[in-house]
Amino acid sequence: MDRVGVGLIGSGFMGKCHALAWNAVRPVFGDCPEIRFVHLAETTGELARERADAFGFAKSTGDWSDVIADPEVEVVSVTAPNPFHADMAVVALQAGKHVWCEKPMAPTLGDAIRMRDAARTSGKAAILGYNYIQNPLIRQIGRLLAEGVIGEVNHVRVEMDEDFMADPSAVFSWRSGALSGYGALDDFSVHPLSLIRVLLGRVGSVMADMVKPYPERPLAAGGQGPVETYDIASVLFRLESGASGVLMANRSAWGRKGRIALQIFGSKGSILFDQERMNEIHVYRAGGAAADAGYTTVLAGPAHAPYDRFIPAPGHGLGFNDLKVMECRQLLSAIAGEDAYVIDFEKGVEIERTVHAMAQSFVRRGWVDVDYGESSS
Ligand SMILES: NC(=O)c1ccc[n+]([C@@H]2O[C@H](COP(=O)([O-])OP(=O)(O)OC[C@H]3O[C@@H](n4cnc5c(N)ncnc54)[C@H](O)[C@@H]3O)[C@@H](O)[C@H]2O)c1
Repeated sequence: MDRVGVGLIGSGFMGKCHALAWNAVRPVFGDCPEIRFVHLAETTGELARERADAFGFAKSTGDWSDVIADPEVEVVSVTAPNPFHADMAVVALQAGKHVWCEKPMAPTLGDAIRMRDAARTSGKAAILGYNYIQNPLIRQIGRLLAEGVIGEVNHVRVEMDEDFMADPSAVFSWRSGALSGYGALDDFSVHPLSLIRVLLGRVGSVMADMVKPYPERPLAAGGQGPVETYDIASVLFRLESGASGVLMANRSAWGRKGRIALQIFGSKGSILFDQERMNEIHVYRAGGAAADAGYTTVLAGPAHAPYDRFIPAPGHGLGFNDLKVMECRQLLSAIAGEDAYVIDFEKGVEIERTVHAMAQSFVRRGWVDVDYGESSS
């Protein structure tokens, strides 16, 4: 595969992030096909043209189906809001395109399964935007766990907090409407669930609570409208391994900007990570002299592949957009039929099943087992 034709649907925060990743993947990794920026879709033809010029796409359209119908487009980046993911991804897969879709899969489990089934039928690469798993230090944590450095894991705690929904006077957006899903649980806590999935395996059972800190928000057209999503979620869970866990997600957490604080406790030590300080981890090994007991701080460096592809010097720091470049490189592996380190649509449905079990538990006010149906394990 010498060249890949890319189509982009949506050009906001994530659309720009995908465009940057498509631009950087070949210079950073080298071993990639030539990337052709073919076609970009936005909500209007005018906005699409403006963004296509800015991001370097040849063609533009106000109708996303044009991108999928374009014979020069081989892979479609879907970065439109959550309610559009299912239709866009399914139509793209049915047209024989590879798909790189932003998380979460879709607001309803039925739509997520529809996407997974379309991926199975097409045989094309279909992956999700779970960029945080790509952090070289998350992979390092995976290696430490596999080597048994902290022994048998018995507890995991993860808190994801940001403040983009913290202002009660912020205008009602798609994120506050029921069509976008439950709120913090699926729009947000799917990220920590992706980390748990790659590091510790599947969640077996859950008990969740959800809260609307602001039941109403101002409408752009004037007046107030009811908020239909929950910006705060608190979940107790058990992993299939038997380890216990706590997941807290808050999109209204004033002061928190990009926190995904992960603590993993085992029989011989513990590991700490926080996305707000994504270039460091802290590892505690039990058993040493009591006077020396404490966490060792490890800074990301070329020893943690693929950091070396970006920067030759340790401790200089990767950034959020670099995670997307790594994800893009993994997508290219998936397209080439090679092993890829990604959350594909199969694993994505497992995460969605976990989220929907959490929502069920909130309604039932009790523990719920996650039903993985016929998902692969
Ligand atoms: N992976 C991550 O870390 C991460 C971070 C933020 C958002 N996201 C996900 O990315 C997606 C987009 O979020 P965002 O923050 O970029 O939102 P955004 O509002 O910044 O951008 C969405 C863009 O899609 C466009 N759009 C809407 N409907 C469209 C349509 N029918 N056809 C074409 N374009 C359309 C909008 O005009 C807008 O430019 C969401 O699914 C969100 O959950 C992922």
